[in-house]
Amino acid sequence: MLIKERLFTPGPVPLPPQVIKALGQQIIHHRTPEFTQIFKQVREKLQKLLDTKRDVLLFSSSGTGAMESAVLNFFSTGDKVLVINAGKFGQRWKELAETFGLNVIDYSIEWGKTYSREKVEEIVKANPDIKGIFVQQSETSTTTYHDVDFLGSVSARLEDCLLVVDGITSVGVYEVYPEKSGIDILVTGSQKALMLPPGLSVLYFSQKAEKRLEKSNIPRYYFDVKKELKKQREGQTAYTPAISLIIALNESLNLMLEEGIKQLAERHSLLAEATREAVKELGLKLLSESPSNSATGVYAPEGINGDELRKILLSLGFRVAGGQDHLKGKILRIAHMGYFDFNDVIQVIAGLELALNKAGYSVELGKGVKKAQEIIIKNI
Ligand SMILES: Cc1ncc(COP(=O)(O)O)c(C=O)c1O
Repeated sequence: MLIKERLFTPGPVPLPPQVIKALGQQIIHHRTPEFTQIFKQVREKLQKLLDTKRDVLLFSSSGTGAMESAVLNFFSTGDKVLVINAGKFGQRWKELAETFGLNVIDYSIEWGKTYSREKVEEIVKANPDIKGIFVQQSETSTTTYHDVDFLGSVSARLEDCLLVVDGITSVGVYEVYPEKSGIDILVTGSQKALMLPPGLSVLYFSQKAEKRLEKSNIPRYYFDVKKELKKQREGQTAYTPAISLIIALNESLNLMLEEGIKQLAERHSLLAEATREAVKELGLKLLSESPSNSATGVYAPEGINGDELRKILLSLGFRVAGGQDHLKGKILRIAHMGYFDFNDVIQVIAGLELALNKAGYSVELGKGVKKAQEIIIKNI
């Protein structure tokens, strides 16, 4: 039987038709007025997305490139930093910081939980000289949301501390406004809620962070913020950019700004709530105590291997993600960020009901779908 594959992984995510169309165009040269014009528009639209007048830089790299640039350009070897390490990507902040000689205070948190305010206060009290706090606003490996406003207020109280936020699966899902939240450095990547293929990363930095650019002593070449800042202000990049992705980003930003950032955040909130309530209705347990609106992590039922369940779901047309590291084989992660609407949620829940039954876990067909519909109908 013909089965269409539908992508429900937390990156890459499906592409809107406008983006696919833009990606299908003949390449243009980047050292041209035509590219400069598009590039300037893209940077202005990113400023609108983040509600800032400050520079927003683009790198041709995956999201980790912008994470690395945050460490390289704004910190120095020996700087003491706090890493909120609550999953695979929290661990990445730690590894990046240590790779470049920073002195990491590792606040390790059980996967699926968020940080405790008291604990952060305690660490900061004992270490008032910390130069940075690193966090994921949305930790994709555990589908957990970490509040950044509180961390922003903590960081602002300290003499010389920057709040560094990985917004790779929060920008375009939530209203992420770095100036309002006291975020000093924000990074994101293209293959998530920006609705593009992988290959672009984005970096915002505050005025407070800018002062660090003169001080940082870590060697760098490609990810040189000062060099990029100069070029990007002129509508160019230091090296050959991912031209086609930037042209496509112009289109996806149009879609996001036309929808409105508040409305976009409300849509994600609705899709996430409908997914969470539906899986709970099917008797499944959520992975996260502080669930993110970008994707829903859910434990496979007792006695059923998550990867087996995932294979069955794929055979029915739904590609979802599994667990990483110690969660491998235990969970499913179902994305609802970017180009998703409520019909996608209804579909994937229907598919999950079929897959659970096929895996030997009996659920009443339509039970989860009904729950999702009950939530959706109140909001449409
Ligand atoms: C929260 C988060 N941070 C960092 C990354 C790494 O991004 P990339 O794979 O684009 O380098 C991801 C990718 O899944 C992510 O979800």
